[in-house]
Amino acid sequence: MRWRSPRPLLLFLSSFFVLSVGAATDDAGFRICAYNVQKFSATKAKDYRVRHTLTRIVSRCDITLLQEVMSPEAVRPLLASLNRYDEYEYQSVSSKSLGNSPKDMQQYVFIYRADRVNVTGQHQYQKKESFVREPFAVHFQSDKTAIKHFILVPLHTEPRQAVQEIDRLYDVFVEVSKKWNNTNVMFLGDFHASCAYMTRANRKNIRLFSKPGFSWLIGDKVDTTVSDMTSCAYDRIVVHGTPFLKAIKPFSAKVYNFAKEFKLTKAKALAISDHLPVEVRLKSSAPLLQATPLLILLSVSAIVFLSAL
Ligand SMILES: *[C@@H]1O[C@H](CO)[C@@H](O)[C@H](O)[C@H]1NC(C)=O
Ligand SMILES: *[C@@H]1O[C@H](CO)[C@@H](O)[C@H](O)[C@H]1NC(C)=O
Repeated sequence: MRWRSPRPLLLFLSSFFVLSVGAATDDAGFRICAYNVQKFSATKAKDYRVRHTLTRIVSRCDITLLQEVMSPEAVRPLLASLNRYDEYEYQSVSSKSLGNSPKDMQQYVFIYRADRVNVTGQHQYQKKESFVREPFAVHFQSDKTAIKHFILVPLHTEPRQAVQEIDRLYDVFVEVSKKWNNTNVMFLGDFHASCAYMTRANRKNIRLFSKPGFSWLIGDKVDTTVSDMTSCAYDRIVVHGTPFLKAIKPFSAKVYNFAKEFKLTKAKALAISDHLPVEVRLKSSAPLLQATPLLILLSVSAIVFLSAL
């Protein structure tokens, strides 16, 4: 009888311990990011401060879409820096230079962790007079994520025709989902989907709003610009389908204000871009594996508990 009293206390303490450790082992999932690195040239990439900050930003993500890449010479030093910086092996896949003015040719570049995800296909959308920078779709495969096969479709719109270009993403969706027999498609990038370029009234002319199945994960109130003078949700992430939506960590889509996180002045942030990166996290695969430390802990506390009796 006299051993009875400590029991509830022990039980309470051990469950508290399990709960707190459980929270600490909750993994970050699989992060996908998109960043318009305003006129990202070789000269810009050679600037040590810019390269260092960019390395810190990109190294948080399993896949990063860079936009406004002006030259392959800009990506190489960034990749080298990333591969020196942390334990992952980073690789990249790029579109050709896209645009209709020789002075403003841009590439879409995906930088990804080769040990976390495979590139299993690429496709350049080519329909004439549809986009200034036609989306360059990439098919990814990863056994680390709850969704094993997915397609990323980037877009950096021409501001003056943003509404038409965003609407045409639906045509890209039809083409790539047929090509790869996969409707798990994510659209991401600087759509200029806000302020003067896309208003609420424009939505009825955009099939990514009027057709069923598309979820806009970055809301209208989000500010993806660095400047205090503007508050516009230019950069967006949209996913198609319930399977993809279910594979996303709830409320993980957000703007990443690195200036705040790294305690940089606005001027230093603006030296990289007038945009901020946006990101979303996918759930990891194998929930059983993640539960293992918890199970071990549970059994240990049960043994401690029993031996105390
Ligand atoms: C990438 O593909 C290889 C070969 O098919 C496979 O062994 C590996 O597990 C894949 N990596 C991931 C992260 O899914
Ligand atoms: C396409 O995918 C569906 C399910 O994802 C599958 O049942 C079907 O067999 C696939 N079709 C082809 C032609 O591969």
